[in-house]
Amino acid sequence: VVGQDVGALRKHIALIGFMGAGKSTIGREVARLTERPFVDLDEEIEKRHGPIARIFDERGEPEFRRIEEELAAEALASDVLSVIALGGGAVLSQRTRDVLRHRTFAVHIKVNVAEAWERSRRSDRPLARDKDAFHSLYEKRQWAYERAREATAEDVDDVLLGTLGIVSTNLSSFRLHASSAVVADERVIALHPPPDGAPVYAVPAGEDAKKLAVVARLWEELSLDRSGSIVGFGGGSTTDVAGYVAATYMRGVEWMAVPTTLVGQVDAAIGGKTGINLDKGKNLVGAFHFPSWVLTDPRFLATLPAEEHRAGMAEVVKTGLLVGREVWSLPEHEMIRACAAFKSAVVLSDPYEEGRRAILNLGHTFAHALEAGSGYTVRHGDAVALGLLAALRLSGQPTEVVEEVLGPEPVRADPDAAWAALKRDKKGEGVFVLLEAPGKPVVTTVSDKDARQALEALIQK
Ligand SMILES: NC(=O)c1ccc[n+]([C@@H]2O[C@H](COP(=O)([O-])OP(=O)(O)OC[C@H]3O[C@@H](n4cnc5c(N)ncnc54)[C@H](O)[C@@H]3O)[C@@H](O)[C@H]2O)c1
Repeated sequence: VVGQDVGALRKHIALIGFMGAGKSTIGREVARLTERPFVDLDEEIEKRHGPIARIFDERGEPEFRRIEEELAAEALASDVLSVIALGGGAVLSQRTRDVLRHRTFAVHIKVNVAEAWERSRRSDRPLARDKDAFHSLYEKRQWAYERAREATAEDVDDVLLGTLGIVSTNLSSFRLHASSAVVADERVIALHPPPDGAPVYAVPAGEDAKKLAVVARLWEELSLDRSGSIVGFGGGSTTDVAGYVAATYMRGVEWMAVPTTLVGQVDAAIGGKTGINLDKGKNLVGAFHFPSWVLTDPRFLATLPAEEHRAGMAEVVKTGLLVGREVWSLPEHEMIRACAAFKSAVVLSDPYEEGRRAILNLGHTFAHALEAGSGYTVRHGDAVALGLLAALRLSGQPTEVVEEVLGPEPVRADPDAAWAALKRDKKGEGVFVLLEAPGKPVVTTVSDKDARQALEALIQK
């Protein structure tokens, strides 16, 4: 299953659209967040052939288009996955559009013509010298962007969400293909009708779904062929199990996540990690299997119990600390969007957790230790809140954010059992995710003495 061709996982991110749309500015930021190199094709052209206005005036537009097509082909042929901003007219070339289709995830950066004109009129762009001609060129080019694009975007977060198929939508009018199967949390379907059009297979509510027996039952009961797809409808537990069944059934079928919890919408449904629990530990069997789509509908969250909302807020605060932005103060839909976009960026930079993706574990080592040390009576969200507190203390960073937004209280747990679980988790390496500053995570070693002290401060005396 490793190496799936979903979104921009194995492709360049190409930004297309009219001049003045902001492709270079957005592209540079997407590249920074996904840790991919950034290529601005207009800049490349100018580096090699001098100012674009001069090429137009001295050698004519057809010669410019020839150069543009050649450099686009060269950039798009690179094996280093990059973010590439193309000039406004580059997609007029059939050859460029063909390469875009095969080697890139192309995102149309949308802009209205008035704004594009305001941004372009004072530049030395040769095609922005006359307002009427600019307007008619804008109209004439839209078909090419529409034909070449796989997603549309207006800002950085839109691009990042698009590259992993994350869409916020009202699901009430959504109809599934009959060749799909919905794997749904039984509590959730009592509260919200699942997406229409396909058979529904109910699984136990929450964590009880992440069991081999549930997976085995689904394997037996599903009747899909290899072109069918599975829809996971519920919180992170349901999408974890639905994704795992999709990874294994018929050696892997496509799947889509419809997360109904805050944890699911900001974290669990994104990034392709799927799996189940064993008696001896959580998430010990699983696979990377990326959903082709993650459809989030904010209306599901209205029925979420307060403690499940709190669990989601712990992941939101974690994300805000990692990205260096007070995402927890944003209106809910913007908060979810910002967190999901950041997770997408980290996942795109390291889809199979070989390096950077580990930063998403900020606070989680302590959380897992507290859960194990309490015999799993401490709720995950409360444990993550405490884990963030420990990570901030070890980082020498202020802890007010966690205290004010999450209000964690020390929990009842056996300190020796918690410590043993932490040591097992670290496999003796003592490596933790800490913060140099908000937005600057570091992976670093911590002495046993400091780690144990930080852990014990989270446990009721
Ligand atoms: N795959 C990943 O990358 C990843 C990341 C984080 C967490 N996870 C996993 O996610 C799981 C936790 O997921 P979760 O926090 O979303 O909770 P969950 O799926 O366990 O659900 C928690 C409870 O909320 C209920 N519920 C779900 N949606 C509801 C709604 N809209 N209204 C009312 N009740 C609703 C469920 O029935 C359940 O009782 C854990 O198993 C964890 O390991 C996976």
